[in-house]
Amino acid sequence: MNNCKIIMVTSCKGGVGKSTVSANLGIRLAMDGWRTLIIDCDFGVRSLDLIMGLENEVVFDITDVILHGIAPRKALIADSRSENLFFCSAPYSYDNELEPEAFRDAVRRIGSEMELDYIIIDTPGDTGSPFRLAASAADTALVVTTYQPASIRAAERTGILLNETGVNSKFLIINCFNADSIEFGVQPSLLEVIDKTCLQLIGIIPYDAELGEKQARGEDVFTLKSSNAAAAFINIAKRITGKSVPLFTGFKRIKRTALIKRIQ
Ligand SMILES: Nc1ncnc2c1ncn2[C@@H]1O[C@H](COP(=O)(O)OP(=O)(O)OP(=O)(O)O)[C@@H](O)[C@H]1O
Ligand SMILES: [Mg+2]
Repeated sequence: MNNCKIIMVTSCKGGVGKSTVSANLGIRLAMDGWRTLIIDCDFGVRSLDLIMGLENEVVFDITDVILHGIAPRKALIADSRSENLFFCSAPYSYDNELEPEAFRDAVRRIGSEMELDYIIIDTPGDTGSPFRLAASAADTALVVTTYQPASIRAAERTGILLNETGVNSKFLIINCFNADSIEFGVQPSLLEVIDKTCLQLIGIIPYDAELGEKQARGEDVFTLKSSNAAAAFINIAKRITGKSVPLFTGFKRIKRTALIKRIQ
């Protein structure tokens, strides 16, 4: 058994950026030298293969490994972006046939057989079967929220559900951050979001229209020049691996300390 860390990316609300975080964080960890697998556990409507630009490579999915005995080395897609990066698709359709124990054992086995450092599990925007499967395997959860009130409430609820399922190591990622909206009182302050969700902040990702455009073409944020979203993912990957990094390190066109005063 190696020391593979299993991280689920979650929120019981749809459309907050879970898949965006799963893809770009996984890619960044691999770029930093960590052997990383990203598993799409959104069994309802898989999309991570599209976000990763790997839709034409998918032959097997995670249910083939767990239910049909396909070897991880055969089932995983080696991503050409990095020799450290692997991807496993969700099935095209799913009938709730997986049990949490079987899923957890299989994910651990994949981690050990592939000598992985990190497994990132993307989940759908609800708390159905895939959420339970991911929670059975994960040792850490990243809860993603935007500044929308419903999304903040969902993050709080997700934190409670994670406690109930035994995932006690939980962190908050605030996505689609826009400092101007906070300053003009359109959105809650940073402290209000942290307070309401009762979660420990691990990163803030700015809203970046170009990110959406790149993603539609299967490209990651690191292909964007001087992107603050890319800096945000670099910082989150470092914090995941135990490094201490100030909140807005690497962000361009902003004064870090002034920004923190503005958004508190
Ligand atoms: N920081 C950002 N800046 C700009 N657009 C973003 C950002 N994060 C996510 N998006 C866009 O928001 C949309 C939803 O993102 P994503 O698919 O990652 O959310 P999700 O939580 O996985 O959704 P679902 O619950 O449907 O799986 C996508 O079009 C994505 O490109
Ligand atoms: Mg998604």
